[in-house]
Amino acid sequence: MPRTNSISDLTATVTANREVARGFWKMSLAAPGVKFKPGQFFQLRIHGDSTQPLLRRPFAPSEVSENGFSFIYAVVGAGTAAMTRLSKGAETGVLAPLGNGYNLPRKGRVLLVGGGCGTPSLRFTGEVLAARGLEVYSIIGARTACTLLEVEALKKISTLCAVATDDGSAGLHGHAVQAAEVMLEEIGLKPKPVILACGPEPMLKGLAKLAAEKKLSCQVSLEERMACGFGACMGCAVAVKADNEDGFIYKRVCADGPVFEATALAWS
Ligand SMILES: Cc1cc2nc3c(=O)[nH]c(=O)nc-3n(C[C@H](O)[C@H](O)[C@H](O)COP(=O)(O)OP(=O)(O)OC[C@H]3O[C@@H](n4cnc5c(N)ncnc54)[C@H](O)[C@@H]3O)c2cc1C
Ligand code: FES
Repeated sequence: MPRTNSISDLTATVTANREVARGFWKMSLAAPGVKFKPGQFFQLRIHGDSTQPLLRRPFAPSEVSENGFSFIYAVVGAGTAAMTRLSKGAETGVLAPLGNGYNLPRKGRVLLVGGGCGTPSLRFTGEVLAARGLEVYSIIGARTACTLLEVEALKKISTLCAVATDDGSAGLHGHAVQAAEVMLEEIGLKPKPVILACGPEPMLKGLAKLAAEKKLSCQVSLEERMACGFGACMGCAVAVKADNEDGFIYKRVCADGPVFEATALAWS
């Protein structure tokens, strides 16, 4: 996977922060000069001048411009709840860009598969690919219709975009892997699409299996709990296949990932 550009530790100002779907908020930050490759992420110090919460939280951008970036976050705990209370003008700390990012194909077809809060970062990835002239297909998975994210933005850049919901309230009644299977039947395997995915681990594991069956290249972006975010603490270890007695070694999701070839991971 490609390596990072140099990491900056900077103060970023909140320019917008609002709920965009039930339980999901979108924050925009002014952070001139920060550049991301698709699949890279950043660590947010929620209050720029405070140590509480102590650890930064990792997120991936959904939109990137010269002046800053936006991201969508699920409110799941103390850190993300505190983020909802940041108003326009508040200062945060940003450590970016982090991680490797996707190894983007130069031509051909790409199938993006996003689940839950993993979908928004694929918007940025898809927009970069579409601007380079690749044919983009996308699948968006969510629990229910009102938590589907970035549907319009992904439709705009995709030759075909399908949604799947666990409760059947929109699109396919099922999960994103089932929708990917249906789409692959529809679009065929010639030329072979490359799968890029971000979402919950069961989805990524299911996609890895599907990709192996169809002999497709598949890169997955993992979400692990993180501490430092830049490779110093081993707090985000993941098992990767290795030719040793154990059959695996540990790699750091933050520094060696978060994107891995699906075939490289020792899935549990
Ligand atoms: C590379 C990367 C990119 C990410 N991008 C996004 C994004 O764009 N949008 C988004 O909503 N979330 C993203 N996440 C997950 C996000 O970092 C966590 O949801 C967030 O840190 C939770 O903070 P909290 O203080 O609210 O929750 P906590 O109080 O710390 O935890 C609440 C719950 O969330 C779970 N959790 C905490 N951290 C993570 C984590 N890193 N991954 C999975 N589950 C976690 C905990 O196990 C617990 O169940 C990303 C994670 C990584 C590693
Ligand atoms: S979070 Fe410290 S090594 Fe990954």
